[in-house]
Amino acid sequence: MVGLDFLKGFGRDRRRHLTGPDLDTLNLLANVVEGRDPYTAGHTWRVSRYVTTMARHLKWTKERVASIELGALFHDLGKISTEDHILKKSGKLTHDEFEKIKAHPAEGKRLLQGLKFLKPAVAGIYAHHEHYDGSGYPEGVEGEEIPVEGRIIAIADVFDALTSHRPYRQPLKPEGALAYLKGHTRTHFDPKLVVLFSSIWDEGMFKKTVLHSDGAIPLLACPKDGQTIALGEEVSEGDGAFCPVCKTRFILARNKDAWEVKLTG
Ligand SMILES: [Fe+2]
Repeated sequence: MVGLDFLKGFGRDRRRHLTGPDLDTLNLLANVVEGRDPYTAGHTWRVSRYVTTMARHLKWTKERVASIELGALFHDLGKISTEDHILKKSGKLTHDEFEKIKAHPAEGKRLLQGLKFLKPAVAGIYAHHEHYDGSGYPEGVEGEEIPVEGRIIAIADVFDALTSHRPYRQPLKPEGALAYLKGHTRTHFDPKLVVLFSSIWDEGMFKKTVLHSDGAIPLLACPKDGQTIALGEEVSEGDGAFCPVCKTRFILARNKDAWEVKLTG
């Protein structure tokens, strides 16, 4: 479950037309996006933590921070229209398959059209795959022509993808992912924003976010394939858990302040 912390940032005017069921629907939508891909447990939550921290360092207003948080939570919303066999393919994508994946920013924008409340999130969602040198998609715009929300989400999205487990590779250490960001400034990323991300990392503010889900849902790594396993909100010693990819079942055990998984039998 993702949180709805961003709502605190909105003024009363923006919040007042939202009812309880609206919030439930937003939560459901965010969890549908997350649930589409078992390899990305906690991804949207972590990306939202990175981008809001960056936005606060840029001294954005509360409302603007809340808007980029929405953009982060729904940046891959358009993937709900991508076919499963493409989204879950572990091998290299064909040209045609990649073209279909590339449709997701525009699809996210299309799905959100007409939803007044999510309108401020659209610029970041639509632009999160643009590259600073103009080689990205969907528009191929460059430099500061790319909405800053998109430039920020791009950095957080790639950093999180690199530091997370994927079926075709082991996660990079955060230092390796930072080196990747620095090595791709001016081509992929906005150099000033990479400096900002890196300085926040040096301050230690991102260390708790790497490989974690939201506070209520700790994540563990499957001892068999390294896949991330999200635990429920109220777990106890001896409860069962299972890996969403290799389907192996585990028993939870407590080790000091952290949870561990033990293979059954
Ligand atoms: Fe994306």
